[in-house]
Amino acid sequence: MSSTKTPFYYGGVAEENYFCNRVEEIEVVKKDINNGLNILIYAPRRFGKTSLVLKALKELNNRYIFIDLMGITDEIEFINAYFNAISISLETTTEKTVRYFKKVLKIRPNINITFDMEGSPSYSLSFTKSEKGNVLEEIMNIPFEHAKHSKEKPIVVLDEFQEVSKLNLEEKLRSLIQLHGNKVSYIFLGSKKSIMQKLFFNKNSAFYKSVKHLPIKGIASSEWSSFIKKGFKNNGKKISDKFIKNILSISKGFPYYTQQIAYELYNSCEPASAVDDIKMKETLRSVLDREEDLFLQEWENLSINQRKALKLIITANGENLYEGKIMDQFNMNSSILKKAVEGLVNKDVIDKSGKRYYMQDPMFEYYLHERLL
Ligand SMILES: Nc1ncnc2c1ncn2[C@@H]1O[C@H](COP(=O)(O)OP(=O)(O)OP(=O)(O)O)[C@@H](O)[C@H]1O
Ligand SMILES: [Mg+2]
Repeated sequence: MSSTKTPFYYGGVAEENYFCNRVEEIEVVKKDINNGLNILIYAPRRFGKTSLVLKALKELNNRYIFIDLMGITDEIEFINAYFNAISISLETTTEKTVRYFKKVLKIRPNINITFDMEGSPSYSLSFTKSEKGNVLEEIMNIPFEHAKHSKEKPIVVLDEFQEVSKLNLEEKLRSLIQLHGNKVSYIFLGSKKSIMQKLFFNKNSAFYKSVKHLPIKGIASSEWSSFIKKGFKNNGKKISDKFIKNILSISKGFPYYTQQIAYELYNSCEPASAVDDIKMKETLRSVLDREEDLFLQEWENLSINQRKALKLIITANGENLYEGKIMDQFNMNSSILKKAVEGLVNKDVIDKSGKRYYMQDPMFEYYLHERLL
């Protein structure tokens, strides 16, 4: 095993040498933010949304407030996540942070501070139920009030924004955000396409046409190729084009899986050695073993007809699903298939590109191919 640091990484935010490409997307984010637009980015889980936005924000140098809404279950938790993110963005001592809020807030909630094992503070507020509405408004207005009295234009990132649809807060958020014009920029990130589309593209929804949608694709094969090759070569190991192609044909450029396979493959090579067929095969087996529980759970969450439809889609390579022969093979008719396909789209399992259906998660597809079909 090599003693040098592995040149690949997966799990958290990809930064610095672990970050591959996305040059065009970063430029667009920076330009749109500078022009005062609000941006919407949605892509499947583990696709690199957070990494992309954080990289663009670091390059922009504006003050930013990053709120992760994953796991938020009610309005009070939402307010506290917002409040904590603003507090952290001030980048100062706890005493100065408290003093700042005492100055800017008209309401007088109690400010609580707790510390984690590393001594990093976490901020929250105590207030009565009747104060909830006012507190939300005041907290969300802080970046705007700050922008009015300074030359700064703060950026607020709402990550995993689909979660607000469970809180019934859309109308209220929209009405506040609307008043902030181009003084505060908002970036809405989400990993559930079906919900994000309902929130932003439905004529009756609160956020209809309030943002510029920035579609993001997988990272191009040519970019990944040089990234992977360099990672091996700079550390004295070797990978031939054949195996890089093999990785990319499975990961389809999906960032998390490309990094995961590259990482495991790199670690399976002794120092100064090269990838071979056996190492490739073993790596893929261990990656599938590790993801198996998750994929089985996802599989079990599907109805019988959705499972059949998924098998049909994979077999037909996503095209001409309603041809008699293929439907006969899976014992389905067009109305049952149509309903199952709709269900799979709503569950964000599949998506459509042009006339072709494809699975959102390429490793899930590979798993089904290898172990269930
Ligand atoms: N530009 C990139 N270059 C290289 N690897 C990347 C890049 N972006 C993302 N990754 C890989 O994908 C993983 C997931 O990235 P990230 O957390 O940014 O995705 P996400 O879409 O925000 O995921 P989630 O929906 O789970 O929050 C990273 O740990 C990294 O391995
Ligand atoms: Mg994320």
